[in-house]
Amino acid sequence: SVVILDFGSQYTRLIARRVRELRAYSVILPGTASLERVLAERPQAVILSGGPNSVFDPSSPRPAEGLLEQGLPVLGICYGMQYLAMAHGGRVERAGRREYGKAVLTRHEGPLFEGLEGELQMWMSHSDAVTALPEGWRVIAETEENPVAAVAAPDGRTFGVQFHPEVVHSPKGMAVLENFLELAGVRRDWTPEHTLEALIADIRAKVGKDRVLLAVSGGVDSSTLALLLSRAIGSQLTAVFVDHGLLRLNERHEVEQALRPLGDENLRVVDASEQFLRALKGVADPEEKRKIVGREFIRVFEAEARKLSQEGCRWLAQGTLYPDVIESAGGEGAANIKSHHNVGGLPPDLNFELLEPFRYLFKDEVRELALLLGLPEPIRMRHPFPGPGLSIRILGEVTPEKLDVLRRADDIFISALRDWNLYDSVSQALAVLTPLQSVGVIGDERSYGYVLGLRAVSTADFMTADWARLPLDFLDEVARKITRQVPEVGRVVYDITSKPPATIEWE
Ligand code: XMP
Repeated sequence: SVVILDFGSQYTRLIARRVRELRAYSVILPGTASLERVLAERPQAVILSGGPNSVFDPSSPRPAEGLLEQGLPVLGICYGMQYLAMAHGGRVERAGRREYGKAVLTRHEGPLFEGLEGELQMWMSHSDAVTALPEGWRVIAETEENPVAAVAAPDGRTFGVQFHPEVVHSPKGMAVLENFLELAGVRRDWTPEHTLEALIADIRAKVGKDRVLLAVSGGVDSSTLALLLSRAIGSQLTAVFVDHGLLRLNERHEVEQALRPLGDENLRVVDASEQFLRALKGVADPEEKRKIVGREFIRVFEAEARKLSQEGCRWLAQGTLYPDVIESAGGEGAANIKSHHNVGGLPPDLNFELLEPFRYLFKDEVRELALLLGLPEPIRMRHPFPGPGLSIRILGEVTPEKLDVLRRADDIFISALRDWNLYDSVSQALAVLTPLQSVGVIGDERSYGYVLGLRAVSTADFMTADWARLPLDFLDEVARKITRQVPEVGRVVYDITSKPPATIEWE
């Protein structure tokens, strides 16, 4: 494996991901993790991340004592390089000014830059600089502003780079990382097939003959996990799918189809739509609706979980992903707190042990597994769908009639996106039913119909989002189809607000 020690850089996760894209297994640990903890990962190489601190500040975080004496290949990035230089007897000082943004390596040499010709653009973000090298070290790259942009130790396996090879603004950064992995002799067998086999073996070893409960939502993570568990432990798995009546058209059927391989007796579908609708009756406030759906979900799921627990089911499986695990912790530690939090709502007397096979995977790795496990394409590549479902896409009170109108309209929009091959070009698309009624004419008659909003956005992280520039002809076709096939809708509008200031959902 490659151990990435996190010193607080916003890019640490990206380093882990790039290393995995290069098919080497990587794990992020806190920068100050003990030597024992680091060695427990049996690292073939160590990467020291960047970070906001100054290495000459005595309180700045440092790797464990003795780590550099293990003979492991090390790549220090930014703060990591400065630490390496200082720890080996060089000098680091505050630079005259901060170097930030795209920079060009005007000169570079040696095996770390193998195969790279000419000037290279790399991303810089630092205020400290290495001003004197440890004995025997060499400068292997420089920029106009920075005479020490990369360094190499005499051992030929320890390097420092002042730039960030992991970010997209360093177009050839991946090649630098790959060269490092090659020089370090890191095994590159982190393929999806390998992951699948390892996960199955782990699950079997952990679970033995015990039974496992899983809640499936129809999203890619829980569906993939259901197929994985089914492959690993067969009928020891019971998957519970709660239909809260706030799903999209045909969604329940699609999920049931996709999870066919589990076998009928291992998939329990609980139709709780009436219970949810009753609880939502008369409620117009979005946050209130969210709370009610969450609460009812736990009620229904708890009843199933209690039955299974009494039948001797010991494990509760969850599709927790790596970003959830490292989000709060920057490594290990807090991870457990967060996981327990996820089960949140289940009473403490329901004493399940937690099984989280995906806790070291990124979303796209789960999608690769889904492909191997035969999850149908529409579910595998599906846009995210909020837990409260359509309840937050009907502004105001949720009624069965409005749900029906929204479902049909939404399906026309989403199907058209697929037909026009636009579905994968946007990150999320949805229809919103407003409580507004607007005037129209049908034949010679004045009519009143709902105003329906369409929204499609592009985003990398859902924290900010840009409204999608869908073709006008496409929007025209969708509006015509909706008003023709869903006569309750009198007017269709397209949302051209980005996030911020608007959110993606309307509620
Ligand atoms: P907003 O509307 O906050 O949405 O820009 C960002 C992303 O989060 C989803 N979303 C939710 N997901 N429960 C969820 O599970 C919720 O209450 C919820 N509200 C918003 C939204 O669909 C988008 O992907």
